[in-house]
Amino acid sequence: MKRLVVGVLFVVVAANVNAQRRSGAGRPAPDPAAGETLAGLTAAQRADFAAGLADFSDEESVADGLGPVFNERSCAACHGVPAIGGGSTRTVTRFARRINGLYDALASLGGSLMQDHAIGTADGLSHNFKAEVVPAAANRTVHRRATPLFGLGLVDATPDSDFVAAAAQQAARRDGVAGRVNMVDNIRAGMKTVGKFGWKAQVPSLFQFSGDAYLNEMGITTPDFPNESCPQGDCTELAFNPAPGINDDGSGPILLTNFMSLLAAPPRAVQTRDVNDGEATFERIGCTACHTATQRTGSNPIAALDRKTYHPYSDFLLHDMGALGDDLEMGNSTGKEMRTAPLWGLRFITTYLHDGRATTLDQAILAHDGQARGARDRFAGLAADAKTKLIAFLNSL
Ligand code: HEC
Ligand code: HEC
Repeated sequence: MKRLVVGVLFVVVAANVNAQRRSGAGRPAPDPAAGETLAGLTAAQRADFAAGLADFSDEESVADGLGPVFNERSCAACHGVPAIGGGSTRTVTRFARRINGLYDALASLGGSLMQDHAIGTADGLSHNFKAEVVPAAANRTVHRRATPLFGLGLVDATPDSDFVAAAAQQAARRDGVAGRVNMVDNIRAGMKTVGKFGWKAQVPSLFQFSGDAYLNEMGITTPDFPNESCPQGDCTELAFNPAPGINDDGSGPILLTNFMSLLAAPPRAVQTRDVNDGEATFERIGCTACHTATQRTGSNPIAALDRKTYHPYSDFLLHDMGALGDDLEMGNSTGKEMRTAPLWGLRFITTYLHDGRATTLDQAILAHDGQARGARDRFAGLAADAKTKLIAFLNSL
């Protein structure tokens, strides 16, 4: 009975909004702020978001399964700027070894992801778990910055075929700026699908990222990721694990996925004339060859994700970035290939590029190499005024 009344109320409100749009009266609703939900969710979807947000923010304890080695106690510890679900300047460390071109992620020594925290003697002093370090065998050490998650539900809801088609279109241009899809194992699909997430597009879905991050950043095992990460690669230490077995029955990754799927894209700042001029230059000098302004979701049972146009300023493809590549291999990416970083929400970020090495947009752009060398050089050659406007555009995202 109660449900019915709520439903009727909703229809009335929705009809009002439509009437306003048609007549042009009233102001359009402002875009959701960073950290808010996509517009137009049902009450049930808002409840799913709230439950997911709580799980994303929840600090795990040793009894919950934290560790033995881990990086932080909650997702929000790394994804919290300027609101929960954002990014941060926190970087994680990855190590690997490359000899005569042959790549080794050093899994037997705890690589490639290093866990820089451990639970110590939390199991009652029988064993002292220690944080991992970069082993002497590694000759590659890479830092990776925690990226913001705003709007990624829209990316998740964009058909794989769109990214495959974009890669084919880029190849057909024959201008040397062709991206590739990273085909990666999708645990739920049981086959390889298009990788969309992570600095090398090495993860195919938000659902898979949830279980992966739960395990590798926090040490929480789930049915899809049942094997605890062995401290520094030494699996005998797991005999002392105070929380062995599966720590989470699989409900955690679903909650986390709901939260990220329904998290709104970052809102645009005011678009002045300078900003619009800057965007025209951005396009003219070839930045949009990779930083594609517009994408569109496929059909989706969630109305807020159903055939929605959005503006990530990324093609989500791998590009050969020359010297800017991090020399790690993930999925079928080579050392030089990186995923085009989405530029939406750029104004909330203070350290740029995969390792956060750049502290100004100018530095970030000038570090582009490989397929982006032409665009970088055209940027470097801009008159001061055009450069200022282009930066103003980036700061409006
Ligand atoms: C210790 C810091 C840290 C913690 C804790 C952490 N992340 Fe991340 N997150 C990162 C970093 C670093 C990246 C970039 C990963 C890469 O490609 O190497 C990332 C990337 C992501 C991405 C991909 C974003 C994109 O742009 O494609 C998702 C999704 C994500 N994290 C979800 C989560 C979830 C869910 C949790 C909690 C279970 C979590 N993260 C916990 C640091 C963290
Ligand atoms: C060949 C593809 C390509 C072209 C062309 C390109 N970029 Fe990029 N851009 C990337 C990739 C890939 C990254 C991520 C690189 C990394 O951090 O390793 C990136 C990162 C960035 C970043 C940093 C984003 C962040 O979150 O740290 C900015 C800013 C940026 N690009 C602006 C530009 C501008 C401005 C132009 C035009 C002058 C341009 N890019 C041209 C591929 C490209």
